[in-house]
Amino acid sequence: MQTDSSFTFVLFGGTGDLSMRKILPALFEAHRAGGMLADSGKIVAVARHIADRAAYIDWVNEHVKPHVSKNGVDETAWASFLDRIEFVKIDLGKPEDFTLLRDALSGRPGIRVFYLATGPSLFVPICHALASVGLNENSRIVLEKPLGYDLKSSNAINDAVGEIFAEEQIYRIDHYLGKEPVQNLLALRFGNVLFEPLWRREWVESIQITIAEELGVEARGDFYDNTGALRDMVQNHLLQLLSIVAMEPPHSMDSDSVRDEKLRVLRALKPIDPRDIGKVAVRGQYHAGVIRGSAVPAYATEPGVKQDSTTETFVAVKVEIENWRWAGVPFFLRTGKRLADRVAEIVVNFRAVPHSALGVSALRGGANRLVIRLQPNETIRLYCLAKQPGEGMNLASVHLDLAFDRFFREGQMEAYQRLLLDVINGRLALFVRRDEQEAAWRWVEPILNEWAASNKPPKPYAAGTWGPAAASAMLAQHGTCWLEEEN
Ligand code: BG6
Repeated sequence: MQTDSSFTFVLFGGTGDLSMRKILPALFEAHRAGGMLADSGKIVAVARHIADRAAYIDWVNEHVKPHVSKNGVDETAWASFLDRIEFVKIDLGKPEDFTLLRDALSGRPGIRVFYLATGPSLFVPICHALASVGLNENSRIVLEKPLGYDLKSSNAINDAVGEIFAEEQIYRIDHYLGKEPVQNLLALRFGNVLFEPLWRREWVESIQITIAEELGVEARGDFYDNTGALRDMVQNHLLQLLSIVAMEPPHSMDSDSVRDEKLRVLRALKPIDPRDIGKVAVRGQYHAGVIRGSAVPAYATEPGVKQDSTTETFVAVKVEIENWRWAGVPFFLRTGKRLADRVAEIVVNFRAVPHSALGVSALRGGANRLVIRLQPNETIRLYCLAKQPGEGMNLASVHLDLAFDRFFREGQMEAYQRLLLDVINGRLALFVRRDEQEAAWRWVEPILNEWAASNKPPKPYAAGTWGPAAASAMLAQHGTCWLEEEN
């Protein structure tokens, strides 16, 4: 991924958690790898509480360095990385301060990238202030999630930002789209002739998509308590994964071809009737429990969380897609904090053979199953039935494994690194277009409304388990179960 295009990467929220853990480490990795960032490219950090560049560099050394390269930092590369960093002290509440930024950026070559690693309430004021000093020209703007709280607030932000930046200048990040295995899903589906003919209702019985976390809400209790798992994970990451699993083959990999196909899926999601929400969606909240041998506290006692909180930390939901390819196939989406394992995977359960001359086991749905594990380790496992050795014809489940680290010596590129390089190089395919985002909000909205109006609290589950039993019962109604419940 060689580049010679110069850039200035302006980082708002330069001392925030995201800058510290993700953005600056990702830029460092791109710098260290060599050839990915133009030599003349600069990073201009913007913050209010830091006096000057020297103080910012001290902050970067203290807070960012521990988050780069687990195997030790290459000191020469680190020193040259710091040379790329400049600093402008701005109070984001004072639009007049933006003239300082304009002066600092004046006469620089190449594209300007404004990365808003700030709370969403600052997105619109920052865009207005940038426009007031003419900085919306020749530039791209990166918006972090959460982009709004519901359809209305998301539209309000998109309308206001859209008055200042054209849609092709706006990069809405969903970091799941930057993950290598998610890219690989596209390669698997559209680079091989093997799967696509079977990838449809005639041969697929059900699909599960799980993003399970062992972590709790960490230091984000306050934010999370006002957000919940449906907004934090389902509206964006899970629906994006779903759209990649279910989309039609795009005409090409250019940004709009891919995003058009994803949008078609999102628009085809069967709207949820508010009266059915109890049947098709389960919300849970973790209580105290044990994770890997350590006791962990209940959600309601986490710092920043209201004691009587009804915020969900777990969601399982049944989704249907109203089109010819997927009519009648249930997609089960699930995510939660403080679950039994950290895993993100997609499970495609194929139908049973139409007639078995080989006994009942061949008639079991799910005998053929494809499990695409996205993290922690990227693998693809294809389950088949085979004859057990010995007398008679008894079938047993066996699997073919594809572990990518055995094939590719190079490590995976971290999601943020790929996405930041894409912004700098003007590649929009892995960013969420406004219409996709709207379609996703529109679909989750009845659930949000119903839960907000309901006086029933989320179902409790013990930390370290797989969530409320109701999530299993929902699948049982379709004659299936979550992958970890097999056998
Ligand atoms: C973020 C959510 O978008 O994704 C977090 O806000 C969540 O709550 C995180 O922990 C999960 O991402 P990953 O890459 O660790 O699976």
